[in-house]
Amino acid sequence: MGSLNIVAVVALKGGTGKSTLASNLAVAGVRAGLKTLGIDADPQGSLAQWKRFRGGDDLMVSPGKTSTLHPMRFAAERSGTELAVIDTRASSLDNMLEAAKAAHLTLIVARPTPIDVRAVAATVEALRPLQRPSAIVLNQAPTLRGGREPALVTESIEALRAHGLPIAPVVVRNRSAYQTAFLHGRSPLELESEAAAAGEIGELWNYVEARLRQAVQQLRPAPAVRTRGRPPLPPIRAMAV
Ligand SMILES: Nc1ncnc2c1ncn2[C@@H]1O[C@H](COP(=O)(O)OP(=O)(O)OP(=O)(O)O)[C@@H](O)[C@H]1O
Ligand SMILES: [Mg+2]
Repeated sequence: MGSLNIVAVVALKGGTGKSTLASNLAVAGVRAGLKTLGIDADPQGSLAQWKRFRGGDDLMVSPGKTSTLHPMRFAAERSGTELAVIDTRASSLDNMLEAAKAAHLTLIVARPTPIDVRAVAATVEALRPLQRPSAIVLNQAPTLRGGREPALVTESIEALRAHGLPIAPVVVRNRSAYQTAFLHGRSPLELESEAAAAGEIGELWNYVEARLRQAVQQLRPAPAVRTRGRPPLPPIRAMAV
């Protein structure tokens, strides 16, 4: 990737799986050879706790207060970080918006249940004025039954389409592997016996990586155009927020 890419993992609703997916995406980044930083912007500290379980120094996790997210971005850039994953706080509009403004891509995590799907509307509407790249990820979905997608999932996807946002092409299922891996500061990507969960996270990472490439391209400054008699416009900052 080279330059800094930032993903914010958000949902105004609690318990959808923000910290779980943030930790898994951070590990996916490390495995892709990226210098990776987790930013725990939730005072609850789940991502920081995960990192304490993990130990080692293959990735760092820093606490990030809402007001410091923006300056942290510049510090991460200076230190050569290539991927930053921001885990955010539920029910805090301010925290979510600051994280989304600092990020190239915002992932809205939702469970495929009627209550959760309805709750996504508030998150989407709050983010809409920012007009920044985002996507919805379904997490904790029931597994296929007899090879068929449960109605809960298909109906949720149908309802979520109404928001007009991309929906990640991989559905993350409800698997104990995510819970046990988290307890050990790991991701199923690192556990040989958890191929199904590892496959999901691998697919989610491929999607996130592709969207990040697109987003960074979109946000790149346009070349300055020389107009007769006027000096060229100064380049626009890549991440004007
Ligand atoms: N795909 C999954 N399969 C099974 N359990 C999951 C999955 N994703 C998350 N969980 C579990 O659901 C619970 C909530 O997950 P998590 O803490 O990641 O959510 P959160 O959105 O960060 O919550 P909060 O809003 O409190 O910060 C945890 O017990 C976690 O282990
Ligand atoms: Mg959390």
